[in-house]
Amino acid sequence: MSYGLLKGKKGIIFGALNDQSIAWKVAERCHEEGAEFILSNAPIAMRMGEIDELAKKTGSDVIAADATSVEDLDKLFAHAEEKFGKIDFILHSIGMSVNIRKGKSYTDLNYDFLEKGWDVSSVSFHKVMKAAWDRDIMNEWGSILALTYIAAQRVFPNYGDMADNKSYLESIARSFGYYWGDRKVRVNTISQSPVMTKAGAGVKGISGFFNFADDMSPLGNADALDCANYCVSLFSDLTRKVTMQNLFHDGGFSKTGVSQKIVDKFEDL
Ligand SMILES: NC(=O)c1ccc[n+]([C@@H]2O[C@H](COP(=O)([O-])OP(=O)(O)OC[C@H]3O[C@@H](n4cnc5c(N)ncnc54)[C@H](O)[C@@H]3O)[C@@H](O)[C@H]2O)c1
Repeated sequence: MSYGLLKGKKGIIFGALNDQSIAWKVAERCHEEGAEFILSNAPIAMRMGEIDELAKKTGSDVIAADATSVEDLDKLFAHAEEKFGKIDFILHSIGMSVNIRKGKSYTDLNYDFLEKGWDVSSVSFHKVMKAAWDRDIMNEWGSILALTYIAAQRVFPNYGDMADNKSYLESIARSFGYYWGDRKVRVNTISQSPVMTKAGAGVKGISGFFNFADDMSPLGNADALDCANYCVSLFSDLTRKVTMQNLFHDGGFSKTGVSQKIVDKFEDL
């Protein structure tokens, strides 16, 4: 279904790796709603080739950029400026923890791995916004979004140093969001339900997380398509005064102490 909510809007979408990726669904929905955009991902992700399929489907250019590289980002934003002039939205859908990948527990972090994961998952959001800021590429009433997880506020075993990375990411959204206000641009993070994606699958016990969250949420987990629809609303002109927020998009999980479904499961133990 299309409402034409993003007709005439231009943007950049980071992080579509395969058709499970949240960013992939966001790109599909933005396209349906009339937006034009550039797709970007790390050079290594490009080699997997799947992003070309999405680019074809949505009529988008694909520009490789390591989101931790200021130089790569500058080239990407130069391309965006040449193609579109100014842009209206940016999605940062990027996350990676080397410690999680290598199975290192929170009590045994490798600090070189930690620094790398922090740069990829958190600081890259600052770098992306700085590249946009320096070029003054955002139109007034533009919208910048990053994706996060509730482990920034509460402890979830096995989410490891990503919990700290997400706290830092949310803080960057608030801090930089203040300055973007001068240019009438909003900056928010969406705290999304668990979704089975490549990044999600890297977290030990993700199926347990996923099923527990589904049972704990009065509306059930929000899936990638639900998330894409929420992103569309936040890129649209219907949400112009929402900024510097961490917006929970989780079927009510974040406000539920315990659900009847969970109580029932423990009742007869
Ligand atoms: N899947 C979940 O359960 C879930 C829940 C809440 C939030 N999130 C967040 O959503 C975002 C997207 O994750 P996803 O679940 O769609 O998984 P995904 O693995 O499909 O996406 C992660 C993306 O980050 C990209 N990336 C990694 N290093 C990069 C770098 N150096 N430069 C540029 N891109 C880089 C990957 O190539 C990939 O496209 C992440 O921030 C993730 O933490 C995911």
